[in-house]
Formats: sequence, C-alpha cells, structure tokens
Amino acid sequence: MRGDTGAVAPAAYRGQLAGRTALVTGGAQGLGATVVRVMYDAGVRVLSWDVDEARNRATAAEIDPGDALVLPVHVDLTDLEAVECAYRCGRERFGPADILVNNAARALPKSLWETTAAEWDQVFEVNVRAAFFLTRTVATDMRARGWGRVVNMASLAGQIARPTGAAYGASKAALTALTRAFAAELAPYGVTVNTVAPAMFDTPMVRGIGREALAGLIAQVPVGRIARPEEIALLVRHLVGPDSGFITGATYDINGGALMR
Ligand SMILES: NC(=O)c1ccc[n+]([C@@H]2O[C@H](COP(=O)([O-])OP(=O)(O)OC[C@H]3O[C@@H](n4cnc5c(N)ncnc54)[C@H](O)[C@@H]3O)[C@@H](O)[C@H]2O)c1
Repeated sequence: MRGDTGAVAPAAYRGQLAGRTALVTGGAQGLGATVVRVMYDAGVRVLSWDVDEARNRATAAEIDPGDALVLPVHVDLTDLEAVECAYRCGRERFGPADILVNNAARALPKSLWETTAAEWDQVFEVNVRAAFFLTRTVATDMRARGWGRVVNMASLAGQIARPTGAAYGASKAALTALTRAFAAELAPYGVTVNTVAPAMFDTPMVRGIGREALAGLIAQVPVGRIARPEEIALLVRHLVGPDSGFITGATYDINGGALMR
C-alpha cells in the first residue's frame, strides 16, 4: 500500500493545511487511500469513511501508525441515517469537516442492454445520491463557518462514451452537474466545489487486466501511460488548499490528453 500511496507533502502544504479536518469517502483503498495519505502528510486530520471496515482500519493504521490523525469510520454510504450519524460522531472527535472528498464509487462495467434496474440504482445510490446528501450535511457546517472545500471524484467515463459504461458514465456526469449546483449555492459563503475527472489510473485492478489490454488502453492516451494515483491526489490537495478560493464549479480533466477541449 505504501507504494501506492507514497506521496509526500512539501513543507509549504503542511503549513497551509495543517490543523484542518478532511472527510474522505472510500478511503480504504485505491485513490481514496492515496488522498488520505496526502492529507495526512500535510498535517490534516482525516475521517476516512468506507464500507470495508477491515481494509479501512488496516490502511489507516499503515498511513498513521501513531493513530493521531486518521480515523477509519465504518459507514455504508447508501444508508443515509448511518451517514448522518457517522458525521455527527466524527464531528465530536475531529470537529466539523473543512474538506470533503466524495471519492467512493461503484463501477458497473456492463453494456446498457445488460444493466438491470437494481444495478442502475446501486450505482446512482453511491455515486450520486450519497454524494448529494453527504455534501449537503457537511456544507451546512462549512457555510456557517465561511470556509470549505469540496472535491467530487468523477471520471473521463462521464465525459466520453465507451461501450459497457452507461450507468457509471451517467452517474459521473450527474455528479459533475451536482458540483456546479453546489458551487453556485455555496460560492457566496467561501465554500468551493469542484470536480476532478481522471482517466484510468494505476491500481492493482488495472494491473490485473493483462499486458495486452493495458497496452490497448495506453494507446488511447497521448502522453503514453496511465496516471499514478498520487498525481490525482496532489491535484485534490491543490484544490482544497487556501490558494484555490477563486476556483469553483470547475471540472479538472486529468487524463494524459485523452480528452482535450
Ligand atoms: N480506477 C480508475 O482508473 C478510475 C478512473 C476514473 C475515475 N475513477 C474514480 O476514482 C474514484 C476512486 O476509484 P478507485 O479505483 O480508487 O476505487 P476503488 O473501487 O478501488 O475504491 C472505492 C472505495 O469505495 C468504497 N465504497 C464503495 N461503496 C461504498 C459504500 N456504499 N459506502 C462506503 N464506501 C464505499 C469501497 O469499499 C472502496 O474502498 C472513484 O470515484 C472512481 O469512480 C477511477
């Protein structure tokens, strides 16, 4: 995991972000774990939410062996009562969240002909509905305090179509629309809301798809490789910093040139 999440914050970021509280969903693995590490390295207190309790604990213990800054929280984002309850508990321990990263997601690599109604709902429950209600809860505190940073993790799949991505792509496009809606309502209160839209990045799952399939994917990326999770997490770190107050409602493409616009 250290290899996946080993980004280090320069001293400047420590000074700017230290003492803040971040809530990161899907922090147990993948990009979420990398964001948790980058926040931790910057001196941020992190509530790392995930439905995978064991992995979330193990990841938090690895990132923060002293158990001082990263609090793993077991929560299923589809249970809105549990979400409210988890936020209240985390608030008591670490204070209200200054930073929210809606990163958890459900993927569904299925053709639109094969997608069932239940699967459609499961994708939208995590990727859109949970992000909407969690953001509203957290933004209530941010608005009252006059400062906040929200980053929604979308995807290139919400911007261009490929076969086998109908529900997932639609959910990421919806999340991007929500970003703008929240940004518009929160702009007067010092709260910024932005989307990060990565193309495929390096995860154990991607490495497992086989050399030929990976080469096919890389052939579609002008820079000739896929992203490292740290590259995306460092963009998130910039967007949640104090110098990003004039950036809101934006979508940051981070795709190696796979979509230029
Ligand atoms: N992997 C990629 O190449 C890629 C590309 C573009 C965008 N993205 C986006 O980046 C983000 C992170 O992707 P990843 O590959 O690191 O994801 P991942 O699947 O490795 O991790 C997602 C995490 O979210 C958690 N989660 C899922 N449902 C949950 C629920 N109901 N409640 C709480 N936690 C839940 C999972 O347990 C998991 O730990 C996602 O939003 C994804 O859509 C990923």
